[in-house]
Amino acid sequence: MPLSKTTTIRIRKATLPDAAAIHGLIFEYARHGILLARSLPELYENIRDFTVAEDAQGILGCGALHFYGMHLGEIRSIAVWPRLKGRGIGGMIVDALLAEADQHRIACVCLFTRISGFFGHLGFTEVKRERLPDKIYKDCLACRRRENCDEVAMIRGRLPNLARLELNQKRRTRRSLSRI
Ligand SMILES: CC(C)(COP(=O)(O)OP(=O)(O)OC[C@H]1O[C@@H](n2cnc3c(N)ncnc32)[C@H](O)[C@@H]1OP(=O)(O)O)[C@@H](O)C(=O)NCCC(=O)NCCS
Repeated sequence: MPLSKTTTIRIRKATLPDAAAIHGLIFEYARHGILLARSLPELYENIRDFTVAEDAQGILGCGALHFYGMHLGEIRSIAVWPRLKGRGIGGMIVDALLAEADQHRIACVCLFTRISGFFGHLGFTEVKRERLPDKIYKDCLACRRRENCDEVAMIRGRLPNLARLELNQKRRTRRSLSRI
């Protein structure tokens, strides 16, 4: 169902006062195991990652872009209130996050999802999760579902050759070698 012509939707970066509304929206899906729960303190700490869609009534949807470095960013916590699904809001938020990634010259944007159809529609393609070691080290190793994960890894852009961890390891090795 399209939004009424009189409704103006604004897409903007989130600010601290949005944290409670974002928390409520993510919880709406986290309680059914659809999204990863985010605590309020965690949202305050990472609020600059978030973009929101709003109208005069309040927050309609949200999404975050996490930075690993210029080689990789990750789209996380995409959600639109259930009653507003299918009206283009989720697509607008993803477009804004991709534009933000472009602004920062991030070469590749990844995500892990169970709804590959939605992201396929927005230009993402499936890759083997092993190709994204940054994400694996950050989240997957500590995840209780790591042995039976039902999410698909997807990317848009150029798949990184090396993960940041590997780059750091290489730098450390070079530094130690130069001291010998
Ligand atoms: C996923 C979600 C954010 C999509 O938001 P939305 O506002 O409903 O999506 P849009 O209306 O912008 O849809 C964009 C397009 O994707 C398609 N699409 C939407 N949900 C889809 C799905 N689950 N599977 C496949 N395609 C989907 C739409 O049909 C639309 O196509 P069209 O442009 O041809 O009409 C929303 O459904 C949601 O909050 N889901 C629960 C949380 C969730 O699963 N988040 C993703 C975790 S990785």
